[in-house]
Amino acid sequence: MLKHLACVVGARPNFMKMAPLLRALAAYAHVRPVLIHTGQHYDENLSDVFFDELGMKRPEVCLEVGSGKHGAQTARVLERMEEVLEQGPPGGGRYDRLVVVGDVNSTMAAALAAVKLGVPVAHVEAGLRSFDRTMPEEINRIVTDSIADMLFVSEPQGMENLRREGHAEEHLHLVGNVMIDTLLWLLPKAKARDTLARHGLRPAQYGVVTLHRPANVDCPQTLGRLLDVLHEASRQLRLVFPVHPRTRQRIERFGLSERLNGGGVLLLPPLGYLDFLALTSQAHLIVTDSGGLQEESTVLGIPCLTARPNTERPVTVEQGTSTLVGSDPEQLRVQLEAILAGRYKSGTCPALWDGQAAGRIARVLAG
Ligand code: UD1
Repeated sequence: MLKHLACVVGARPNFMKMAPLLRALAAYAHVRPVLIHTGQHYDENLSDVFFDELGMKRPEVCLEVGSGKHGAQTARVLERMEEVLEQGPPGGGRYDRLVVVGDVNSTMAAALAAVKLGVPVAHVEAGLRSFDRTMPEEINRIVTDSIADMLFVSEPQGMENLRREGHAEEHLHLVGNVMIDTLLWLLPKAKARDTLARHGLRPAQYGVVTLHRPANVDCPQTLGRLLDVLHEASRQLRLVFPVHPRTRQRIERFGLSERLNGGGVLLLPPLGYLDFLALTSQAHLIVTDSGGLQEESTVLGIPCLTARPNTERPVTVEQGTSTLVGSDPEQLRVQLEAILAGRYKSGTCPALWDGQAAGRIARVLAG
């Protein structure tokens, strides 16, 4: 019996999670994945470039929801996804299951549309909890998990969280981390690129910065203080900062651009996957508020200062190379100094982050 899977992506961090899964599913002739892009991210450098670099087929369905307030964006995905699911897969039949990854608005909205139509939901990267309900992603995670009946989990704490929330054991699968499948697959290709030379950088002689979370970039004082510390640190170590469109808008609107002048901070537009991995994998340190980068730096063994008060990925702090510094400039300064002075912990790679997670998931989805 054929199995039709509606596989949904929407925003940048979804692409590297879905790509290995589609490759793994190709081993099962009776499984027909249909790739659906909500269009939450639509810029060339936040979306298109990833399809080429990750070797992913172009989406068969695009919902073109675009940007907007959370309610409006979520509502557009919900409305358009409902229609797509009702129409069924191209070529006829019905969808047997919806597969979503991560925790962006598209993840939650697509899952909600499906479950209302009786299409069961599989969630990849289930069970992560920051216990901070002011984060939009936390709400997306809680809602998505609560309506999914196949929960694929990347770290042991996620299993505990889902058990505590009352999920039945047969719905839970500890499979490892699909994003790391992509990282390990593309690392040699990324390192072979001339990315560092193009930006005048040498291995281990620069740091990488990314910031885009509302808690860090939406308040002028918070963002200004973080930029000041980075500017100061950049006198000792050059810092490369690919700037998310949201952050660029805020820097401009708050008149903070000149705060970065004259130091060693190199501002870049958002990068594709391979250029970004080339940079992170050879960096001396990373400063970020991204969820995925905490995990990637742990696998790469690169010190990572996470500009958040909490994390839904505790294994990256307990076992990996990440340290939480919140939005506190002083904490960031102290930890930057520790790394530069060679006084920083080293980490180990979590179990099952071995490049084979997608294969484990595909086996369950195909069964
Ligand atoms: C989204 C996710 C976040 C993820 C991040 C990765 C949610 C709630 N947030 O945040 O979890 O870490 O993606 O990048 O889903 N914009 C563009 N071009 C685009 C898309 C967005 O310029 O292609 C601008 C728009 O002005 C938009 C803003 O960025 O208003 C924010 O985009 P949005 O998709 O709402 O959230 P992100 O901050 O990207």
